[in-house]
Amino acid sequence: MSEEEIELEEFIEKLNYDLEWEYAAAIQYIQHQSVLSGAAFDNIGDELALHAEEELQHAIQLADQIDYLGGTPSVDVQEIKISEDAEKMLEQDLAGERDAIERYKKRIRQAEALDEYATAEILKQILITEQEHEMDLMDALDL
Ligand SMILES: [Fe+2]
Ligand SMILES: [Fe+2]
Repeated sequence: MSEEEIELEEFIEKLNYDLEWEYAAAIQYIQHQSVLSGAAFDNIGDELALHAEEELQHAIQLADQIDYLGGTPSVDVQEIKISEDAEKMLEQDLAGERDAIERYKKRIRQAEALDEYATAEILKQILITEQEHEMDLMDALDL
């Protein structure tokens, strides 16, 4: 059995883990966009507020897929990272996006291995947004 081949029950657990990170990302972005200050970061605040809304949308999409597959969506929240420093905040956000991108790539392969193509399609849509978030943060950090 390869890494992609998992049982439905385990797949639902992994989707719940992703859901908990989406909750954390939404809350983290809400906090960061409100406390972020400094002339160099004027425009990024609005960008982070938009990210918060999109993470919440991802949470809804994942919860709906978990429900469809017969699971119960989690209400636990993964670890939220905060900082006093604007650059550090953006680095925390970027690390979160990169972690999400890696998880969703794996999750898409797992969904397809289970013949859950609609879930895979939703995950692909989410992945597209996460890659956009990654690029926004890289721009903000001049990377
Ligand atoms: Fe997300
Ligand atoms: Fe994101």
